[in-house]
Amino acid sequence: MSVKPIFFALDGKELSEFTETLEKLKGVIYGVKVGLEMFTAEGPSPVEKLKNDGWKVFLDLKLHDIPNTVEAATVSAGNIGADYLTIHIASEKEALLAASENKTDNIKLLGVSSALTSKAMDEETSNNVEKDFIVAKKSGIDGVICPASEISSTKELFDLIVTPGIRLESDSKDDQRNTTTPEKAIELGAKYIVMGRSIKNNLDYVINNLTI
Ligand code: C5P
Repeated sequence: MSVKPIFFALDGKELSEFTETLEKLKGVIYGVKVGLEMFTAEGPSPVEKLKNDGWKVFLDLKLHDIPNTVEAATVSAGNIGADYLTIHIASEKEALLAASENKTDNIKLLGVSSALTSKAMDEETSNNVEKDFIVAKKSGIDGVICPASEISSTKELFDLIVTPGIRLESDSKDDQRNTTTPEKAIELGAKYIVMGRSIKNNLDYVINNLTI
């Protein structure tokens, strides 16, 4: 069985909450996502531990600050072993360039568009997202966090497209507005998808039946 191109979102305070699930998912999915909640509660140790356990680690800190600070935080994230790191495109070109030019070799930067936050997708938002993604591309950012609806138009700019908001057909949509299924996101051109609650609620299905 090939490894599924999924990051499992570890949305919780402590890595220990996920020990059993991670044992089951080892070798089944590509990586895990450590977010602000866990990073704030436990510091770098979950990243280091997950790396030691052989996981690809996506550190979702959505950096947004002055160039020096963004650059320094990017270097620190690379030094603790993160493989992917999110950065707000609204940090502006100078900060994006400082991060992309000085990051460690092991880390890839993923741009986040603030146009996306908790908004339903309309034409204006979609245009703003595209403008942001062009800035990211020109600033040496490796890839983007991209909702399903924008994958097709983003493929010309980036190969590294990571899509959240994934739900199985049988799931409730919770607070996600712009959702799609794992199969559809991959078919549209996402390189990886991010799944949190959908994995928690359907662990056996994801392990045994999900074919992506
Ligand atoms: O909804 P679900 O539980 O799958 O969310 C998993 C992760 O995706 C969460 O960590 C959330 O922060 C992230 N996410 C995101 N952008 C979105 C939707 C969710 O980064 N538009």
